[in-house]
Amino acid sequence: MAGSSSDLRPRRWWRSSAGRVVAGVATVAATAAVLVTAPGADAAASTLGAAAAQSGRYFGTAIAAGRLSNSAYTTIAAREFNMVTPENEMKPDATEPNQNQFNFSAGDQVYNWAISHGSRVRGHTLAWHGQQPGWMQSMNGSALRNAMINHIQKVMAHYQGKLAYWDVVNEAYNEDGSRRQSNLQGTGNDWIEVAFRTARAADPSTKLCYNDYNIDNWNYAKTQGVYRMVQDFKSRGVPIDCVGLQAHFTGGSSVPSNLQTTISSFAALGVDVALTEVDVTNSNTSQYSALTQACMNVARCVGITVWGVRDSDSWRSNESPLLFDGNGNKKAAYNSVLNALNAGGPTTTPTTPTGSTTSTTPTDPTTTPTTPGGGNCTATLSAGQSWGDRYNLNVSVSGSSSWTVTMNVPSPERISSTWNINATWPSSQVLIAKPNGSGNNWGVTIMTNGNWNWPSVSCSSS
Ligand code: G3I
Repeated sequence: MAGSSSDLRPRRWWRSSAGRVVAGVATVAATAAVLVTAPGADAAASTLGAAAAQSGRYFGTAIAAGRLSNSAYTTIAAREFNMVTPENEMKPDATEPNQNQFNFSAGDQVYNWAISHGSRVRGHTLAWHGQQPGWMQSMNGSALRNAMINHIQKVMAHYQGKLAYWDVVNEAYNEDGSRRQSNLQGTGNDWIEVAFRTARAADPSTKLCYNDYNIDNWNYAKTQGVYRMVQDFKSRGVPIDCVGLQAHFTGGSSVPSNLQTTISSFAALGVDVALTEVDVTNSNTSQYSALTQACMNVARCVGITVWGVRDSDSWRSNESPLLFDGNGNKKAAYNSVLNALNAGGPTTTPTTPTGSTTSTTPTDPTTTPTTPGGGNCTATLSAGQSWGDRYNLNVSVSGSSSWTVTMNVPSPERISSTWNINATWPSSQVLIAKPNGSGNNWGVTIMTNGNWNWPSVSCSSS
């Protein structure tokens, strides 16, 4: 991270002549060793995704399938963002229009676009009172409970192993901190934990999130209601991995001064926190800057997603709440966000996620980190910053400027973001990296899911 304090700077690692990777400090002498520093450690990144990736975070957007034929839209989206949330395409009315008849065409369209442009995907959403198909709206009791379980199982099976996060339950609380009345709530107060247990069994590889709006202010009753639910779930072993603060600062609401307290308080329960649907009335620059800084200040705030690309793509386009205007120009708020991402800032001590390793550095690689390619190029790995659940890996390619690096990630690890490459994904475990004009130093963030072994790489040049 450019301009950050020394404790945040990527550690320097040396590869000895034996190929073993060891951590060290700058005063350690290493005979015949190669010193590799993290790309981006000293230079500001020029896109939101790359800037966020410097601290292991992502910067995402909502993508609508219907806009993917618009090249102005896709050009910005592909360039700037490395996490995608389908705006409507994975909601129950889209995926199960008739009971037990599933339709993944629009969801797959967004998913395939995302991964073919080097982005990961947040699934949104499985159980919600909104955007239910007609057949579900008129259902209640045990029939609805069973339908919800079946929906979660089938939709998660389709995307098994492919999504970084899933919003399992969306918007289940009232403003006063009580449960929202809905047909789902009517099936019994345990419906939320049943949804999460079902989701964990359906796809153990993805992180399971609760997502809501107006839970940004720590002193607000709704925030406290959701907090108590997450606290209860963690204490009873109900599987929950993350909380999404939608962060819609539109329609008169604004960023509360205690947003960081809210984020760090949720994080202290042992969950990832993300800002998942950000928009701000008239793109107020100081509010955009403040919300970005609040996330940057908490180690387990894993990323920020804005709810659309250009103002004209927004669900509240009359408020001009996004980072690009209708002509695709960067707004002042864009620069305030980019600067906050590049500047970094003080961070809290990462907490250890329940059920995962307590290690904070990768173990020795299981494969030799340097693999000569068939065409005179070499990809050398070195460790970047690491957190309780993920680590950055820096890659330096030498011998060619026209290279292709294939990275195989051991299961259940997943790459959550990349920087300085054109990335394609033959599968969730395999990354194909090619130059994107940013040089030969690039990197990835890897979610360990409990496995800290490094990926294997091979390099070929053309
Ligand atoms: O696709 C149909 C189109 O065929 C039809 O002609 C048109 C007529 O109204 O409707 C179109 O569907 C609309 C859909 O967006 C796609 O544009 C729906 O009416 C409209 O209700 C729907 O709105 C979405 C809204 O969720 C519904 O709840 C917004 O796009 C979407 O941005 C918004 O996203 C939600 C999050 O999921 C949860 N948090 C709040 C957020 C904002 O409301």
